[in-house]
Amino acid sequence: MTYAVVAEGLVKHYGTVRALDQLDLAVPEGTVLGVLGPNGAGKTTAVRVLTTLLRPDAGRAEVAGIDVLADPARARDSLGVSGQYAAVDEHLTGFENLDMIGRLYHLGRRASRARARELLEQFDLSDAGDRPSKTYSGGMRRRLDLAGALVARPPVLFLDEPTTGLDPRSRGDMWDVITTLVEGGTSLLLTTQYLEEADRLADNIIVVDHGKVIAEGTADQLKAQVGGERLEVVIADQARLVEARVLLEDSRPGGVAEVDEHVRRITLPSDRGTAGLIEAVRRLDAAGIEVQDIGIRRPTLDDAFLSLTGHGASAERAGHQADDSRGGSRGGGTDSSGSGAGDPGTDGAGQRARGGHPEHQTDGRQRRAGEHVMARKEI
Ligand SMILES: Nc1ncnc2c1ncn2[C@@H]1O[C@H](COP(=O)(O)OP(=O)(O)O)[C@@H](O)[C@H]1O
Ligand SMILES: [Mg+2]
Repeated sequence: MTYAVVAEGLVKHYGTVRALDQLDLAVPEGTVLGVLGPNGAGKTTAVRVLTTLLRPDAGRAEVAGIDVLADPARARDSLGVSGQYAAVDEHLTGFENLDMIGRLYHLGRRASRARARELLEQFDLSDAGDRPSKTYSGGMRRRLDLAGALVARPPVLFLDEPTTGLDPRSRGDMWDVITTLVEGGTSLLLTTQYLEEADRLADNIIVVDHGKVIAEGTADQLKAQVGGERLEVVIADQARLVEARVLLEDSRPGGVAEVDEHVRRITLPSDRGTAGLIEAVRRLDAAGIEVQDIGIRRPTLDDAFLSLTGHGASAERAGHQADDSRGGSRGGGTDSSGSGAGDPGTDGAGQRARGGHPEHQTDGRQRRAGEHVMARKEI
């Protein structure tokens, strides 16, 4: 098998923080690897190492068969990267942003302009292409940033949390764009905090926590480990809980229900989707048990973490927060601090640690490992 990306034993420390702890990963050519993990897991650090923006303390990595440590300049020719925070120049129009990147790649005037128009069209930005990108919505900026990463048609693409902070509609648009790209043969490494996103886009998934891989497999394999879908029923009358539980367990032989008496909720594994839900409603109704709420719950990253590690994914990982893949080269040969325009925050990794980007503020509360954390991730 040919690999688009291989990393072995990557280690990176920031002071005492071990951001990468012997991380291994591989992306077979033409496939999508989802790197799934909560804030602070080490996703951005891994992307920065793989895209030549950061040297690891140990380990090795290859992109498109090129050693990224030995030959970073050549590696950059084969890769594109789009970060969590869109690195577009706000004062330029969408067209000008893309044209500028084409020029930096020495595409030539005509080819560069043509490529810019083509990408605007592909990313549904044609109508907005001639206005300053500061007038764009968050979703449009992300699409423009991604388009920028594709100007030189890199065979390997890195997307760091491409939909974090987007509203559901923009997220859906982004998923469509990514799906089209992958159909075109691009190999992709995608980081995300959302199991649903990895499920939707990735062929293989690794789950990363504290800089190392704690689980891997296809989405289905991981979901099976997590326990798959669950049917949740809340009934109106607490006195009938036991009866309802027996009814529901009978409807799913082998399934053992959990009961939460306080909230009158019964939860049990469900592998029949809506058919199982309808049957549950029928049975309860026939027995005259009033249902207050019923639904199917798909496993979230929190569920996955609880089941894999015994602690929730939302737990604050460490004292620092640094999550910025902007300012990065797209393979164009500038270093990470060289593209300063419009991005006052990127004056060095250390100073960025508490940069306080509005999309990246967490509540900063410390939670103990093992605590049952089910807080929703901010969207
Ligand atoms: N420039 C930096 N200086 C100090 N600590 C950092 C820096 N960048 C990242 N870290 C720390 O390294 C760990 C991994 O961070 P990161 O790779 O940004 O995680 P993720 O992208 O998964 O949220 C976190 O504990 C983070 O606080
Ligand atoms: Mg990150």
